[in-house]
Amino acid sequence: MRLAIATCAALPEGDEDTPALVAELAALGHRAEAVRWDGPARWDDYDLVLVRSTWDYSTRLAEFLAWADSVPRLENRAEVLRWNTDKRYLRDLGAAGVPVVPTLWDPVELPEWPDYVIKPAVSAGARDTARWSAEEAAPAAEHLARLRAEGQTVMVQPYLDAVDTAGETALIFFDGEFSHAVRKAPILTAGAGVQPMIADEKDAREQITPRAPSKAELALAAQILAAAPKDLLYARIDLIPGPDGSPVLLELELTEPSLFLHHAPTATPHLAQALTRRT
Ligand SMILES: Nc1ncnc2c1ncn2[C@@H]1O[C@H](COP(=O)(O)OP(=O)(O)O)[C@@H](O)[C@H]1O
Ligand SMILES: [Mg+2]
Repeated sequence: MRLAIATCAALPEGDEDTPALVAELAALGHRAEAVRWDGPARWDDYDLVLVRSTWDYSTRLAEFLAWADSVPRLENRAEVLRWNTDKRYLRDLGAAGVPVVPTLWDPVELPEWPDYVIKPAVSAGARDTARWSAEEAAPAAEHLARLRAEGQTVMVQPYLDAVDTAGETALIFFDGEFSHAVRKAPILTAGAGVQPMIADEKDAREQITPRAPSKAELALAAQILAAAPKDLLYARIDLIPGPDGSPVLLELELTEPSLFLHHAPTATPHLAQALTRRT
């Protein structure tokens, strides 16, 4: 099988997990290479195109989705990417009974909360995402107004401060089977405002360590996958403890999540096997 691992111009060799994945696939008899999604590649030359470090998609969403539609064999598939690249999918999951981070959608005014987050519905790597306190009404209002003026769907959420101690848990699944989990340290600092971002530094602020998920986190992840599109090659489920301590969904990443493969020895073989089953 010939595979393309779709990446972006800033990361021509793919992300940090790509070399080990290419080697694992080679051992199974498959030829894989990193290919930029917006380059001149002939996508029908590949038996399968795996969406990975296409991290510049969030500022070029229409172009990215048109590309996804044009690729004959894409994982995850184009229709999943269309649903998942806009965080309004959280409303669908919330309506299906999944506990999601409480969210005000497109509010005109700032909330009364002491500590809250403003972010656009189309984003990755905490782009245009900031944490604000009640004392920061002026810059917060400017942030809200700017995102609205750009035509973004704006999300406003209470800052879930359990993330400062427990961190965020990311659970990674291949073909619906749990593979591994990691802890992500908190990213948003009080008083920092909106941080500038560079396309190839999506995860520069992320501090990752391996973590064994709790029973409650695994149970919630199963509930989320049951409510999500079916037949996903990969899924990453990001959970934070909510106000009562039980986990809530921050993000279901089906597009181009870092999979943190090198944090678990079984992860790369697991993904390579799942890819092999798709041929
Ligand atoms: N409501 C929230 N409470 C606490 N931290 C948050 C909240 N929303 C976002 N964050 C922080 O910002 C980061 C990025 O936000 P997220 O919703 O995951 O968007 P994306 O990763 O797609 O940019 C999270 O990893 C988390 O550290
Ligand atoms: Mg995230």
